Amino acid sequence: MAGAARAGLGRLRRAVARPAAQRPDQATAAEGPLAGEPTPPAPDPFVPSGSAGPLLEAEGVQVRFAGLQALREVGLTLPRGELVGLIGPNGAGKTTLIDALTGFVPLSSGRVRLAGREVQRLGPDARARLGLARTFQSLQLFEDLTVEENLMVAAERPGWWNLAAGLVVPRRGAEAHVGWALDLVGLTDIASRMPRELSHGERKLVAVARAVAARPEVLLLDEPAAGLDTWESELLGRRLRTLVEELGVAILLVDHDMGLVLGVCDSVHVLDFGQVIASGPPASVRQDPAVLAAYLGGASPPATPAPVPTERGSL
Ligand SMILES: Nc1ncnc2c1ncn2[C@@H]1O[C@H](COP(=O)(O)OP(=O)(O)O)[C@@H](O)[C@H]1O
Ligand SMILES: [Mg+2]
Repeated sequence: MAGAARAGLGRLRRAVARPAAQRPDQATAAEGPLAGEPTPPAPDPFVPSGSAGPLLEAEGVQVRFAGLQALREVGLTLPRGELVGLIGPNGAGKTTLIDALTGFVPLSSGRVRLAGREVQRLGPDARARLGLARTFQSLQLFEDLTVEENLMVAAERPGWWNLAAGLVVPRRGAEAHVGWALDLVGLTDIASRMPRELSHGERKLVAVARAVAARPEVLLLDEPAAGLDTWESELLGRRLRTLVEELGVAILLVDHDMGLVLGVCDSVHVLDFGQVIASGPPASVRQDPAVLAAYLGGASPPATPAPVPTERGSL
């Protein structure tokens, strides 16, 4: 195991060792290792490919459904260690892009590279084995398994079931990083509960934890904050930042929660009618006239990143 990866995991473990119920406004600046903290088993490195380039690249991606051109010449780069946002009005093509990147819908043209390797002809399972994980907008948990067992299945037995469960996870390395993943999204306290006992927000977080438990290099999240309250959403954002910064994974975050996307992402792409109409740091995207036109019909930018409902979604 690479020393850097081991050191990163050590820092991450300390970062997630904070009690799950602690609210962001109660967090202290200094969060060193806890006295007497047990040493968790050392997981494999998250990023074994050793590729120096971007972890995921999409180039000229086009997807057509019968008469509808759902994606037009979409380009996207997910560098190692970065959290990239994808926003756009309802029906813009965000889920279709995740489907295209993960192999759930075929490209009519274009390329997708994972750590430098072209994968556009590979199916979802093969891409998953190369380290690509996703969550689905509408998720299904195994209702007869506890939260912890739901993650255990994802971490240890990826295969046919993951498609049925609404999740694709890498097969590479089979160790369960379940406790670690539960910590990461703050679900440790409810690990033994059944899904029916969870709030909608908690179920969404289980889906994120389940993807994380499989130690992907690239994680594509389709509206993970839908149904979360403001505090849960902030917590999720902080945990996603921890993932990218400490472990060097790449994350694509699709969400309607503008406070979350603009607040935590390194860069943001905006889709409208299947085309990327703006890309850049959150501050510039928020002011971009094309983005404002797409969401608000050219109205003034919102004063705060709080969601502003519009006819075609929220900004
Ligand atoms: N399997 C499909 N067959 C036909 N049309 C689809 C299919 N999936 C998505 N679409 C259409 O593609 C467009 C983009 O949808 P989608 O990617 O779900 O948008 P978003 O996630 O941004 O809300 C929409 O017009 C939608 O109706
Ligand atoms: Mg969608």
